[in-house]
Amino acid sequence: METNRSLNLKFIKGSIFFIAILFACSESASSNNEENVLPLDPFEQNKLLAKTINLGNALEAENEGEWGIVLQEDYFQIIAEAGFTAVRVPCRWSAHVQNAKPYTLYSGFLSRVQWVLKQAEKYGLATIINIQHFEEIFESPAQEKEKFLAIWAQLAEKFRSQGTDVFYEILNEPHDNLTAELWNVYLKDAVDVIRQIDTVHTVIIGTAEWGGITAMNKLLLPQNEKNLIFTFHYYSPFEFTHQGAEWVENSEAWLGTTWMGSASEISAITSEFSTVKQWSVERNVPVFLGEFGAYSMADMPSRERWTNSVARIAESEGFSWAYWEFAAGFGVYDLSSNTWREELLKALIP
Ligand code: BGC
Repeated sequence: METNRSLNLKFIKGSIFFIAILFACSESASSNNEENVLPLDPFEQNKLLAKTINLGNALEAENEGEWGIVLQEDYFQIIAEAGFTAVRVPCRWSAHVQNAKPYTLYSGFLSRVQWVLKQAEKYGLATIINIQHFEEIFESPAQEKEKFLAIWAQLAEKFRSQGTDVFYEILNEPHDNLTAELWNVYLKDAVDVIRQIDTVHTVIIGTAEWGGITAMNKLLLPQNEKNLIFTFHYYSPFEFTHQGAEWVENSEAWLGTTWMGSASEISAITSEFSTVKQWSVERNVPVFLGEFGAYSMADMPSRERWTNSVARIAESEGFSWAYWEFAAGFGVYDLSSNTWREELLKALIP
């Protein structure tokens, strides 16, 4: 017959075991234990991206800091407290990879991105990592394809055990010689490479011809991949959003272009977004408006009106969105005074 003492001991051991299981379960909620993750519903996943901000001009420069932004821990806290749900982190992997086989990614940059994921997780923000500014592949796709796929194989390996609120966006704004037709092949190959290593994380796929709506009807989504989100970028009217942008030829001629929010200006957005919506319904795929923003050379009241209209129309179509961008030329945050540009922030999150 068991004594009270041994029964107590059994009870204590049992409780410890139970607590350990509970702990293990709660652990897997944030850092995914791959075997236990059910196939994710991309529509549910897309809700995590509802209000995203692009951490532009930081890791998309060849060296972080060269474009004026070095990511700091407090940015993540500031962003989360303002009500954003996610960060999109444009990364120029092509500047941090060996130029010859096996195209090994530099560990310093990988650790830096890992640090970003950690900060985002700490403040409850979902994270999108992508490949941004892979200029070489737009010029010579065939020559760069192996490197492109090798980058994804390494990213999938490195980040496969991250929480399910980490997203992989295959490539920012394919264009030039990476035509819409070629892009259909490259994106499928990239998804295949990722899925051989990581069957869990949601992938995000955008259009060729600079990521806009024009190439939407040329895009073929991989048939057998359900865990994916469609993304497009919106900067229309371009003469308004990119007036005075130093990287856009002759854009100083557009300085002074306003955006008043007239019925016809609004309906231009509404009709384009409803085309996207229709396209996505036909394919049963959720939509993420991955970049939209107006450069600081435009007047603030126009920027405010445009930003508010684009965000509200996107929301009314059920799209998640990501403003371009946090604290540089389109910035909604002013690093010199450490304050939000309230007009823009309210336009995004009323
Ligand atoms: C580019 C940025 C640019 C932004 C707006 C992004 O896709 O990566 O360099 O500032 O678009 O033009």
